[in-house]
Amino acid sequence: MCGIVGYIGDKNVYPILINGLKRLESRGYDSAGISSLNEDIKVFKKKGKVCDLEKYMSDKDISGTVGIGHTRWATHGEPSDINAHPHTSRNGHFVIIHNGIIENYTVLKSKLINRGYSFASETDTEVLANLIEYIYIKGKVSAEIAVRLALTKVVGAYGLVILCRNEPDKIIAARKGSPLVIGIGENEYFLASDATPIVEYTKSVVYLNNDDVAIIKKDELILKTVKNDTLVPKIQKLDLDIGDIEKNEYAHFMLKEIFEQPRSIQDTFRGRISNDLKDLHLGGLLDVLPRLLEARRIIIIGCGTSWHAGLVGEYLFEDLARLPVEVEYASEFRYRNPLIGKDDVIIAISQSGETADTLAAIQLAKNAGALVLGICNVVGSSIPRETDAGVYTHAGPEIGVASTKSFTAQVTVLAMMAILIGRSKGVLPEAEYLGLISELSQIPGKMEYLLTFNEKYRKIAELYMAANNFLYLGRGYFFPVALEGALKLKEISYIHAEGYPAAEMKHGPIALIDENMPVVVIAVKDKSYDKIVSNIQEVKARNGIVIAIVSEGDEIIKNMADHVLEIPHVDEKIASLLAVVPLQLLSYHIAVMRGCDVDQPRNLAKSVTVE
Ligand code: G6P
Repeated sequence: MCGIVGYIGDKNVYPILINGLKRLESRGYDSAGISSLNEDIKVFKKKGKVCDLEKYMSDKDISGTVGIGHTRWATHGEPSDINAHPHTSRNGHFVIIHNGIIENYTVLKSKLINRGYSFASETDTEVLANLIEYIYIKGKVSAEIAVRLALTKVVGAYGLVILCRNEPDKIIAARKGSPLVIGIGENEYFLASDATPIVEYTKSVVYLNNDDVAIIKKDELILKTVKNDTLVPKIQKLDLDIGDIEKNEYAHFMLKEIFEQPRSIQDTFRGRISNDLKDLHLGGLLDVLPRLLEARRIIIIGCGTSWHAGLVGEYLFEDLARLPVEVEYASEFRYRNPLIGKDDVIIAISQSGETADTLAAIQLAKNAGALVLGICNVVGSSIPRETDAGVYTHAGPEIGVASTKSFTAQVTVLAMMAILIGRSKGVLPEAEYLGLISELSQIPGKMEYLLTFNEKYRKIAELYMAANNFLYLGRGYFFPVALEGALKLKEISYIHAEGYPAAEMKHGPIALIDENMPVVVIAVKDKSYDKIVSNIQEVKARNGIVIAIVSEGDEIIKNMADHVLEIPHVDEKIASLLAVVPLQLLSYHIAVMRGCDVDQPRNLAKSVTVE
């Protein structure tokens, strides 16, 4: 949540900061600011998006070769010029940018007020800036020592970048719970909360770990712990290309990412399904497979779309691996007193690998001695580093705030895991094993074909773009798809939408149905097909409008529904991979027609690093 960028070197800092902020904008976009350090520290900040800051900056002088920038998703204090980052300490010694939350900031604030400090903003960040300054002045210590001492007094999470007026040759950075990565150039260093602003300059990076403090000069990187132990920076190569983070010919990142799915699923298979379609290999699980096969149950945790993918996983593991599964919202799981045993396996699903609640739930499970696995997209992010083992989705960078290709990549990984475990346990017959691998390998081609119907989805969107409510219904494997379809619509078009198990409709939502209510029913041929046909009849009997996702050639539902959107035939266990695509596009077109900012929907952020 929120994006951080920084630079120190010989180049003019402003273009690097502003372009970096544009790349990070999906992290938060209610206000933005930058600061450069020349003879003095200058700070410019503005409520609104990065383009508003850019306009504001058009007549400002921001020369300098050292600087930091931020795009914000508000936690403490409403979006405003004052609450925007960077924040300056009272005497102007320090300018800081902070992602995360300082939980004990009220205590620290009142102590500082007692010592004569006053505050311009409502943020926890300004408290930290003044705490560092207080220690710096009172203790007559260096900026680095002041930062490290201040951090020992802080409870909470942070990704921090700091400029000190009296020490203009350095940026100090620190991490606990909120990611930071340093890019290594020639006589220059870049800094960001993820690698996207860095990749166009360098592919050599160092990821900070929790409790790391970096002192970055243009020709030197010193890495320490908060407690002053020296560390050796571990330099890694970024596996990211600039083309992956550009919109190219697409109007929006979300559209690009929807259309990328045939390729991203192929990338998820790569090296895992053998060419002769006989073998499935998940290298990341090799070492833990014996423990996985002994598992008493699986607990899947995630948030948002990742939680929906987890629900599909529940059906897959039960069907194919005959394992009991519970799927939990990470935020609920971590605050309960869950019964976790050493023979439980926790699977944490997360696109970003940084979601705070998921990370905290992982910690809880680790403390209880369970085996903790991750299914993540962002290589090198916190969750893969915190888990015992895992499988990357390899879907490539997802920039649109509404998750699309991550969902299909996560379901693909879950399917592969369930097939692998089922076979290894001897509960999945060989013919079904081979059949499923073959079906999985055909998904990219079938999805490519499905995407050729985009114009049809757009026309349906045109008919219903003005609706105030939508209901999404599905059963079995398609119940999570209904939830995901409803989530996509509400997050980007702001239309109220609910996903429901189709049979539950009779216990409440049926009261909502009238001639104005579009009901999207996922009615693909599966073992409960007849039941879902009855549900469609129930909606039609109350004059509801039915948009049905059906299997190709379905004549029965065609005669009942107002619209049918066909998907190619595929085993129901993996049909969610196809059924979700028309729903993604329907939401996309409705949001565009309503004039919504598809890639940066209001109030949302791509990666939720606060609890
Ligand atoms: C935010 C994003 C969603 C995402 C959820 C979980 O709410 O807007 O698209 O599904 O976080 O994120 P994760 O990175 O853990 O999958």
